[in-house]
Amino acid sequence: MAIQWFPGHMHLTRKAIGERVKDIDVVIELLDARLPGSSANPMLAELTGHKPGLKVLNKQDLADPERTAQWLAHYNAQPATRAIGLDASQATPAQQLVAACHALAPGRGGMAKPMRVLICGIPNVGKSTLINTLTGSRKAKTGDEAGITKLEQRIVLADDFYLWDTPGMLWPRIVVAKSGYNLAASGAIGRNAFDEEEVALELLGTLKEHYAGLVEARFKLDAPVSPLTDEQVLEAIGRKRGALLGKGRVNLQKAAEIVMHEFRNANLGRITLETPEEFAQWLAAGQQLDAERQAKKANRKKHAPSDSSGAA
Ligand code: G4P
Repeated sequence: MAIQWFPGHMHLTRKAIGERVKDIDVVIELLDARLPGSSANPMLAELTGHKPGLKVLNKQDLADPERTAQWLAHYNAQPATRAIGLDASQATPAQQLVAACHALAPGRGGMAKPMRVLICGIPNVGKSTLINTLTGSRKAKTGDEAGITKLEQRIVLADDFYLWDTPGMLWPRIVVAKSGYNLAASGAIGRNAFDEEEVALELLGTLKEHYAGLVEARFKLDAPVSPLTDEQVLEAIGRKRGALLGKGRVNLQKAAEIVMHEFRNANLGRITLETPEEFAQWLAAGQQLDAERQAKKANRKKHAPSDSSGAA
């Protein structure tokens, strides 16, 4: 699928993170608990090196608890890494984050050696909400337009705990095709950058496989969805919700919008679109495909006739 997102302040943000990270004790990456693998920035490890990392699975109130547990175990098994699940609007659990940073950098704390933390995440993952919850104020702006946090800002959470906020950042190339769909379905990418019908069909494909009962119940469908094609499920939903064009035809665009709205608001139930094992497979396949593409491109360049026109 072609997703035409504008990576925004990517170069600036990348530079800012690279410079800031030298004086940082812990890097927090805020992930969307419904798509932890796809919402993780593939460039972050390269930018932050071996700094201890805290993975925060945010929006866990919308995600499948069983799968959240799998992802937490997956991250907690990695060196110098801890993971916690959060609902960013809840104050008490957000304090877990402070405790987890101290556990990752036990030498830091106190006025002489304040804890210095960098927080990163894709647009709309809930960074502003979390910061507001932690500070107990409305200092960080929140909103439903992707990427509202514009500038790097230092937030003093306590006399000995500093948090550097970075703008929500997406990366320029999607290596894992399925990640593009999952990011679009979650609301991380502006709606003009992708085809809603295509994304809704892919989402229904995943839901049909893992959460068929939730789809049937929410849309009060008359028949099981498993034997249907994704297109047939979308049509059935459109009919049930009265998204019609006349002459009995279904307004597929409207039906797609309904599906995405219901998913994003967890009206279907708590859903997670990927497991660690699935994501590892997608990543391996995506990386292989990407390597082949890059090799072909390099080969084409090598054999392209050089410009010998000598035009004067
Ligand atoms: P950002 O800074 O990372 O771009 O994200 P922001 O905090 O603006 O949050 C994006 C949306 O996600 C907001 O909803 C916010 O309320 C919601 N959100 C953040 N954290 C959580 C969470 O843990 N659980 C749930 N369920 N939602 C979360 P919005 O509809 O854009 O705005 P509003 O409803 O707050 O008005």
